[in-house]
Order: sequence, then C-alpha cells, then structure tokens
Amino acid sequence: SKTIYLKDYRAPDYLIDETHLTFELFEDHTLVHAQLVMRRNPELSAELPVLSLDGQQLELLRITLDDRELTAADYQLSDSHLTLQPTQASFVIDSTVRIHPESNTALEGLYKSSGMFCTQCEAEGFRKITYYLDRPDVMSKFTTTVSGDKQKYPILLSNGNPIASGSEEGGRHWATWEDPFKKPAYLFALVAGDLWCVEDKFTTLSSREVTLRIYVEPENIDKVQHAMDSLKKSMKWDEEVYGREYDLDIFMIVAVNDFNMGAMENKGLNIFNSSCVLARAETATDAAHQRVEAVVAHEYFHNWSGNRVTCRDWFQLSLKEGFTVFRDAEFSADMNSRTVKRIEDVAYLRTHQFAEDAGPMAHPVRPDAYMEISNFYTLTIYEKGSEVLRMIHTLLGNQAFRKGSDLYFERHDGQAVTCDDFVKAMEDASGIDLTQFKRWYTQAGTPRLAVSEAFDATARTYTLNFTQSCPATPGQSDKLPFVIPVELGLLDARGNDLPLRLQGEAAASGTSRVLSVTEAQQSFTFVDIAEQPLPSLLRGFSAPVKLSFPYDRDQLMFLMQHDSDGFNRWEAGQQLSVQVLQELIGQQQRGEALVLDQRLVTALRSLLQDGRLDQAMVAEMLSLPGEAYLTEISEVADVEAIHGAREFARQQLAEALFEPLWQRYQANREVSKGTPYVAEAEHFARRSLQNIALSYLMLTGKPEVLAATLEQYEACDNMTERLTALAVLVNSPFEAERGKALEAFAEHFKDNALVMDQWFSVQAASTLPGGLQRVQALMQHPAFTLKNPNKVRALIGAFAGQNLVNFHLADGSGYRFLADQVITLNALNPQIASRLLAPLTRWRKYAAARQALMKAELERILASGELSADVYEVVSKSLA
Ligand code: BES
Ligand code: ZN
Repeated sequence: SKTIYLKDYRAPDYLIDETHLTFELFEDHTLVHAQLVMRRNPELSAELPVLSLDGQQLELLRITLDDRELTAADYQLSDSHLTLQPTQASFVIDSTVRIHPESNTALEGLYKSSGMFCTQCEAEGFRKITYYLDRPDVMSKFTTTVSGDKQKYPILLSNGNPIASGSEEGGRHWATWEDPFKKPAYLFALVAGDLWCVEDKFTTLSSREVTLRIYVEPENIDKVQHAMDSLKKSMKWDEEVYGREYDLDIFMIVAVNDFNMGAMENKGLNIFNSSCVLARAETATDAAHQRVEAVVAHEYFHNWSGNRVTCRDWFQLSLKEGFTVFRDAEFSADMNSRTVKRIEDVAYLRTHQFAEDAGPMAHPVRPDAYMEISNFYTLTIYEKGSEVLRMIHTLLGNQAFRKGSDLYFERHDGQAVTCDDFVKAMEDASGIDLTQFKRWYTQAGTPRLAVSEAFDATARTYTLNFTQSCPATPGQSDKLPFVIPVELGLLDARGNDLPLRLQGEAAASGTSRVLSVTEAQQSFTFVDIAEQPLPSLLRGFSAPVKLSFPYDRDQLMFLMQHDSDGFNRWEAGQQLSVQVLQELIGQQQRGEALVLDQRLVTALRSLLQDGRLDQAMVAEMLSLPGEAYLTEISEVADVEAIHGAREFARQQLAEALFEPLWQRYQANREVSKGTPYVAEAEHFARRSLQNIALSYLMLTGKPEVLAATLEQYEACDNMTERLTALAVLVNSPFEAERGKALEAFAEHFKDNALVMDQWFSVQAASTLPGGLQRVQALMQHPAFTLKNPNKVRALIGAFAGQNLVNFHLADGSGYRFLADQVITLNALNPQIASRLLAPLTRWRKYAAARQALMKAELERILASGELSADVYEVVSKSLA
C-alpha cells in the first residue's frame, strides 16, 4: 500500500468531454461498453504523455483508439491501470469489459442487492466499472444506456433525464439516460430492478416543475411518505436559505438494503441505504424519522455543494461534506428544535470526533496524506468540517456568509475546486481576512481553551484571560494558535445578562457577543461591571474546543437555571454531572462507599417540576453523560468504575426522583395514548421525556413500573414507545418478561429487516453480564448475516461501540471476538471491516493490561493474511 500526498497533486493530462456508457446486465456477468471522447488538457504543454486509465477487477474484452482495434502490444495492463500512448490531441477510446456484480460483496462499483442492480462509485468505485480517469477533477457529460431482462428489471435508471427506451428480443428491454451537467465519475449511478415508486411534484422558485420519485421494493411502498415530505421541505429550504434551485426535470431516490454508508448524492439519482429512507410510525422510531429527514436533506443539498461545484481531489472532501453537514444541521434545526439539534450534534462530536482527534488516525479537516480514501470519510472531515463552517458563519454573520456562498456557487459552478477557493469566496464577499482562521483546515487535534477571571470592584472591570493550546497529533508536534470564536454573556446575581462593553468601546453592544481569541494568551476586559458576574462561555458551542473554567457546582446549578442560552443551560448540567460522576469514579477506585452529591438530585428535581420547560430539553438534561464520553475525558479510562459510577447515579436518581418521574411519565403516556403518531418536534419532545422517565423508573424494579412498561409495549401504536419499552425490559432483571417480549417482537417483525436491526441492537447494547455470549448466539439467528452492513452495525458495531463493559471484558474475549469479525469481513467488505475496527484503535485510553490485549488483537489482524488497503492502513497506523 502506498501513501498519496496532497503536495503531489497535478492537473489531469487528459480530459474526457463525453462519456457514453452501455450496460448489458445478465445474471452471471455484466458487459460494460464505454466510449470516451478525450483530449489533451489544453492548460498543459502540447506534447502527449502516456494515458493511464484507472481500472480494477475488469476483464478487458476489446479496446479501440479512434476506431483502430488495439492489440496487447499497444497497451499495458496492470491490476490497477491500463496505459497507452495517444498519438493525437483529440481521440476516442472505446472499450468493452466484463464485470461480476452478482458476486461483488464489497458493495463498491456495480453490485446486486436483494435482486436489484445498483452502484456506489464514491470515492473510487467507478474504476471497478470501466477503464476511466477516476478522479473528481475530470468532469464529463454522460449518456447511459442500460439493457436487461424486462421481467426481472422493469425499472432501468441512471443520471439525468430519460431520452429513449425500447424492447429487444429475448424478453429484454433498454433505456437511455442523458445527464446534461458535467460531472465526475464518482457521481455516476445506475439502478435496475423490480421497483415501485411514489411520485410527487415540486415547483421551483422560477416556476419549473420537477418530478420527484422515490423507488423502493414493492413491500415498502407504505414507508416512503416521510422521505417525500422531507425532500420537498429540503428543496424549499435550499431556495429560501441559500437561493439554490434544483436543475433537472426529475429527481429520484432509490432505497437499497445493502449499502456501506447512509446514502449517496449521485446526480439526479440519489441511492440510499433503506434505513435512511423508510419510515412510518409502526416500524421506525422518532430518531429514525429525524435521521431520514436529515439524510434526504443532506444528499439533496449536495446537488449544489458537491455536484454543481465539486472537489478538485479527495483531500478537499470536507469542502463538500463539512459544508453539506453544516447545511443539513441548520435545516434540521429549522424544522425541529434548534437547541436540541445542537445538543445532539455537540454530544456526538465531543464523544466521537474528539476521540478520533486524540487517537492514532487524527488528521486535519483537509488531510495532506492518505493511503485508502475510504478511511477518510471520518468524523473529522464531516463533523469537525461542519464546525469549521459554523465558525465561519459565526465570524461573518448570516448576511455576509450568504453573500459568500452566493459568490462561491456563482464563481465555481461547473468546476472542481479546493477548500481554499471556498474560503477565498467568503473573504472576498465579506472583506474579512481568514488567513489565520485557515489553520483549522491544516492543524489536527482538539484545541484546549483555559479561561480564568479577575474582577476589580473598584475599577468596575471584569477580565477574562484565555490560554489556548493544542496537543501534538501524528506528524504534527507544534501547533500555531487558532482563531477561536467565543460567544459569551455575563450573568448578574439574579441571572440576567449584563450589557457587554469592552474596554475602549464607546458603548455597550448586546448581552451576548462573539470574541475572537487569536493568540496563545489573550485577555478581554469588560467595563461598567458593578458586581462579580458569572460568565456563560462558548454559548451554542461556538468553537470545537475543550473549554475549561473553574466553575463550582453551585455556579453550574445557577447556570442550569438562568443562562439565557439553552445550549449552555444543558452544558452546565453536563458539567455538573461530570463533576459528580468523576467524584463517584474516584470513590469506586479507592474502594470507598459511593455517595451521590445531592445537588444533582435537587437540580434535576427542579427541572422535572417545572412544567413550563421544553420537554425535549428536560429529557436531554436528565440524560447523564454517556460512558463513551466519560472515557474520552479520562486520562486513563477505568471501564468498570465508569460503568459502576454511572449506574449508581442513575439508580440513586431513580429512587430519589421517583414521584416526579412517575408523574411526568404517566401524564405523557396518557397523551401518547390519545394522540395518533405525528413526526414533529412537539411530539418527539413528549415521547423523549416519557421514555427517559420510564428508563429511570424501571431501575426501581417496582411492580407498577413493570406493569406500565408492559402496557406501553403492548398497547402503543409506534416504534418509539415500543422499542423503549423493549429496551427497558431487556436491561431489567425481569427475565421472563424480557424473554417473552423479545420473542413476540421477533415473531411480529421477522419480515422487516430494519426492525430486526433494532431488535439486534437493543440486545447488543445490554450491559447485563454475558453480553458477548448473547451477541455470539444472535449471530446464528436466521435474520443475521455478515453480508449486510446494517446487520453488522446493528449487532457487532453496537456491541463494540455501546456496550463498553462487555466489550472491554478484562479477559480480552470481546477484543478477540471483534478481531475475528474484522478478519472475516476484510475479505468480504473491506470498508465495513475497517470501520468496525475503530474501537480497537483506542487502546491508548486504557491501563496496561487492556492495552496489551487490544494491541495483541491488532497484531493478529495484521498477521492474518492478505489485508485490504482499508484495514491495513487503520491497523498499521494505530500500532505505530
Ligand atoms: N457522499 C456521501 C456518501 C459516501 C461516503 C459515499 C463515503 C462513499 C463513501 C454522502 O453524502 C454522505 O455523506 N452520507 C452520510 C450521511 C449524511 C447525512 C452525513 C452517510 O452516508 O453516512
Ligand atoms: Zn455527504
């Protein structure tokens, strides 16, 4: 395996103006004919270098250059390239290759899923379809003809608009699609199958009518309305917020069961993991409904941020992914609760991206080297990339940001560009210099920001001192200061925001404002401050940093109640919980009796008793920081102590708060009983409080709670309530009820693969002893298969990622199990194998005994035989 470097980027020697593809689909092979209309890149010299086309796992049957049939003497073939010498500046290459989608288990290129043909080309899958310049800066106009059996594959789809179709002898038929927009090969798509669709219409800002179609297997046709509604909302939102209109006459989504990722933004023909399209009350949870809405939006938004303006090379991946995640997050915030969306995203970032940024695979938002690009669809590219865009938005303000995005889309329409081009557009539109800010793109690691205060009663000034630093990451020992936008407010003793006037300013401006911390050490002094204030720092999590300020617990309780920023009210609660839990972890490690700080009980009680608060916020604030987050913030993570302390706290809270929890549970369950399912924020909020209350209540083991759980399980009309009741039973000591419910659930939903995924996950995540044995037994269940990525994630991924006490069992059996699965999957599906491996790469977080066991399993994978580039890169870098 070799490393690719950003510094080696060179423009393509040749361009492909037109790409004409014909696919002949058969049961035991597929023929791909490609006609490439090519020319020398006019920006380079006139001489004609050799042409090296990418191609993997292709059987070359025929190739011509300008109608001259080539023989083996005219070209060189390796397992990754076809090389030949052009003799003219413009020429046409025609090739025919044979491929085998029917045996493609890697799910990259053309493959079969549940009897249908589909493609996944990003990032470098097109080279498994035909010989091509498979790089995003080669953009071409595509026409695609698909031919296949009419009965088996009545629907034949590709990018763009349908322009012709017809029948052939032998029960076959064909269709031709033309995409008028130039695109890189990674946006190519083809689908052939027996599919039904729901159709709708959308009229754009400029009154063009667009046909919308969502294709699914016939039995799922009753589960697409939510995705269709989400699509129409997305189209409208992108017009209103970004001025972006859809550009083809038809927009299609296809749901497939076997898919490595969530979904893919192929031009005009998005292909989705069925888990990100299908949703209805009876089978999908509230979280799943919101996921569908977000993914539909994300892929739709790529039509501009990714497709019309694409990436020059894969080092620029965050240009499209970070930006599009930021866009979809703002969309979800507008559709639902803004504060709750922010809380969820920040919790996810701090638990998972911060861990990545502190681990062996840490890399900048714009990496400068990689071995296997599939490994770089990371939390850093996506989530930190989105935070970088959010900071630009914060620094520029909404208006200038919109001017910048308008300029970016106009200036670069039809081009393949870089993150620098994006930032330049933002600078040109706003007049703000982002030179130093761009360090966010090039320096890896999570910055720390330590804050201290000094109040001067006589001078009536209040000073905040900021110190920033960033730990070393692989290949980067020294970091320069970042531009850190810190949104803040100052609370007076009654909890009101004070007017903010910095020294040197003529007047106060606002009560919440953004300071830019740009130096390693920097102070800001506020004037006219009569009494010692309490700072509310990093409101809305205005920068992806680890902030520290020496709050005591009473101050955190005060912020929980009074901060005008909803995110920071939640954040204060989290910090309070972290302090309390860390105290319990210490007690546990010293073998002392555990004693819960009653202030946490008091704080949560007052939340539960305040009927005016947003119920979703109350639910979020009742959720203690997860074990994975507690691991991330530990110097050395003590798996058992973290689990023990957190469970002790949950138990204590459940007992102390039984009355208010029971009251809120019953009230909400009553409303749920009388309300048909609605996938909207207010209803999500009610159910989230109801369900977290139930999960606490069950810890008391009271018979009335068991009865309520069984009532909810049996009588509810939606998966949110049903799955919570099931999860509560699965984690309870009521063995008989648990067994009965699991069995009934599986019997009822055995034909619904996505629901069975949830059934697997609930059991995989159960922290009761014996978790590994349960997971191993479930792998033998008829609904389980290693060939389906959703199943692998639902069972093995959930076990290793969420069931920390069982996965990290002291004898190393969890690690051995995971390594075994990675070795098997390496041969079947390298991308899934390498993603599954992530928990083992975190060995540095643990004490010596676990480190040794984890490393031994990584070594065993390394020695297990022929490794894919995907698995090799992750294993070798995490051992380095
Ligand atoms: N372009 C990606 C899908 C992709 C990723 C294809 C990696 C091939 C390799 C798509 O736009 C995407 O980012 N999908 C996300 C979901 C999204 C809501 C963040 C995914 O698939 O997880
Ligand atoms: Zn994306």
